Amino acid sequence: MCGIVGYIGKEKCLPKIISGLESLEYRGYDSAGVAYIIDEKIKINKEQGRISNLKDNINLDIGSYIGIGHTRWATHGKPCELNSHPHKVGKITIVHNGIIENYESLKKDLCEYEFISETDSEVVAALIDKLYNEEQDMLKVLPRLKEFLLGSYALGILVDNDDKIYAIRKDSPLIIGVSELGNFIASDVPAILQYTNLYYLILNNEFAVLNRDDVVIYDKDGKVSTKNLLTFEGSREAAMKNGYEHFMLKEIYEQPKVIMDTISEYITNVDILKEKMKGLENYEEIDIVGCGSAYHVGLVGKALIEKYGHIRVNVDIASEYRYTDHIYKKKHLILVISQSGETADTLAVLRKAKEDGIDTLAIVNVVGSSIAREADRVLYIKAGVEIAVATTKAYSCQLMMLSMIAMYLGLHYEMLDESIFDEYKKLDKLIDKILEDTSDTKIVAEMIYKNKDVFYLGRKLDYALGMEASLKLKEVSYLHSEAYAAGELKHGTISLIEEGTPVLSIITEDDIRFKTLSNVKEVCARGALSIIITNEEVQDKEVYDKLILVPKLHDLVGSVIVIIKCQLIAYYVAKLNKCDIDKPRNLAKSVTVE
Ligand code: F6R
Repeated sequence: MCGIVGYIGKEKCLPKIISGLESLEYRGYDSAGVAYIIDEKIKINKEQGRISNLKDNINLDIGSYIGIGHTRWATHGKPCELNSHPHKVGKITIVHNGIIENYESLKKDLCEYEFISETDSEVVAALIDKLYNEEQDMLKVLPRLKEFLLGSYALGILVDNDDKIYAIRKDSPLIIGVSELGNFIASDVPAILQYTNLYYLILNNEFAVLNRDDVVIYDKDGKVSTKNLLTFEGSREAAMKNGYEHFMLKEIYEQPKVIMDTISEYITNVDILKEKMKGLENYEEIDIVGCGSAYHVGLVGKALIEKYGHIRVNVDIASEYRYTDHIYKKKHLILVISQSGETADTLAVLRKAKEDGIDTLAIVNVVGSSIAREADRVLYIKAGVEIAVATTKAYSCQLMMLSMIAMYLGLHYEMLDESIFDEYKKLDKLIDKILEDTSDTKIVAEMIYKNKDVFYLGRKLDYALGMEASLKLKEVSYLHSEAYAAGELKHGTISLIEEGTPVLSIITEDDIRFKTLSNVKEVCARGALSIIITNEEVQDKEVYDKLILVPKLHDLVGSVIVIIKCQLIAYYVAKLNKCDIDKPRNLAKSVTVE
């Protein structure tokens, strides 16, 4: 959570810092602030709310060439100007992304300082100031921080009367961008892409000193370290809206491409499939763990892997799994799923699994992220940069990766043959067609957007899809929405159905088609506004007010079409309700706190 940016170089720093923060706003948007050096003095501006508030209230043209900035997702202390970053204590000014777990005890030890905010970050600034007064040299201070700080931090630091930016990280992401015109620190690559695509990835406890013309990176013991300069392969356009009104819509429309990017290698060459998935058939049990949409996609994975892989699969939410005792089989796999690769609870599950000696596999989007680096094996999806806080394209790519695991196992057990590849190969054209005409989803949005409560119904796979569809709808449109296993509704929840309550039923599997339809009839009898999303015509016209028909595909690939329809419904409802679609209230893209 939170985004940090810094620039030092030959050009004015504020336009670069503000545009960097704008690209990181998905990480949090409760308040924003900048600190910059002008006439050898540090100046700070902060504003509550969006970066646009800050931008409206500062002069971007100020002749400052060194500065740091922050966009905040509040953890310690409410969102207000006082708790906003940067924090200045003594000679030290910092921006911080992360959480300091022992800040209260540190605060007591730093009793000579007077604290004005409620934040853990101000305590870090005081600690650095104290150490700096002792050492008089930041190169001696930075390696000492790990002795004092428990928790996670990526820090950008300015020191009075010192024309440099210092940066250090532990368990919160940090990159250093380099260019002819100057050097950058940032929480994520999109913040620097307007100026450079060359960057260093900073690992835990490493730190860096940025000068106007060079960057020096040090290892955890303070020795100069030589690192590979990386090139961000995606285009800058990937991080821009490209004419779409919202990133969410743009990312929905990118799905034909990114799904094919994710799957094409595996489905053109069975040897690559076998090489990448080798050994998965040997596991007796798999625990799939993730948060939010990553958890939901795991539920789809369970249905497919159990069907084609003869392996028992358990799916759990990372924040629950990590605090629960588990019984492991001899050959047990923990499969963590994370778009960002930085989600705190998912990372904790991974680390615990490794401590316990259990094999780990990660499905990740962000290359080089903590989860990707630490898992025993990684299957990368190729969703590209996902900016909208609500995930769409990453979920679909994760779904396809799980589908390919199931497909690999199905081939292994000869339940499938290589002709299954054709089902995957036609997906992009089919999705293109869905995206060409979205009128049915717009009509559904018109039908439901004024309601307060919405229900999704489904069984098995369709229930798992309903859970994701429901999350998508509630997080972007603020409508209250629940997903129910269709057969469970009558055990309580059906009392909530009244005249006009929208019920969206997903029906794609033949073996439970008529069971779910009879549940639809039950809600229709109680006055529900019934919308059915299905892959087969429904003869009884009495059971729906609107039908969304999707192509009937193999169950390994069909779910992705259904979820795209549901993403579009969520998007259009949010649009009709004039919601802040890309940045829904109270959320952040990368959840690096528990
Ligand atoms: C919902 C959403 C979240 C994420 C969750 C996990 O649209 O995006 O529920 O799925 O925060 O994030 P990652 O996948 O980065 O671990």
